[in-house]
Amino acid sequence: MKRILVIHGPNLNLLGQREPAIYGKATLNQINNALKKIAKKKKIGLTIKQSNHEGEIVDLIGKGCKIYQGLLINPAAYTHTSIAIRDAIAASKLITVEVHLSNIHAREEFRKNSLISPVAKGTIMGFGYRSYLLGLEALIDLI
Ligand code: DQA
Repeated sequence: MKRILVIHGPNLNLLGQREPAIYGKATLNQINNALKKIAKKKKIGLTIKQSNHEGEIVDLIGKGCKIYQGLLINPAAYTHTSIAIRDAIAASKLITVEVHLSNIHAREEFRKNSLISPVAKGTIMGFGYRSYLLGLEALIDLI
């Protein structure tokens, strides 16, 4: 069975109540359930993690390279700051799809640069919770 690791970065545990006008009303639990449904249908093993800690995300990716074929990640605020997560993805050789709920190019200037995009196979953003679903579908096709 092919396996995919899903990582939700900092503050995404607050989805549903966190700035719903930007991030939507879906909770992380609802998003995870929708992802699990797709994975089940496509017979893919899915492990889902959320972390507010950069080092923990680095460790998950580092350990994950032996277990998973693909990585679906919303690095959240670390998108714009984390060379460590970028390097972990590059070192892992995991096929990686980056997702964002919001369109980071349509927001503040500091959000426009993603350090993660250059090491991802592709990025899906701006479609709310659907970004995750589209990202997972794409990743499953790739692995
Ligand atoms: C986000 C966009 C980031 O800029 C922000 O820090 C987040 C969420 C998104 O999904 O739209 O926490 O990654």
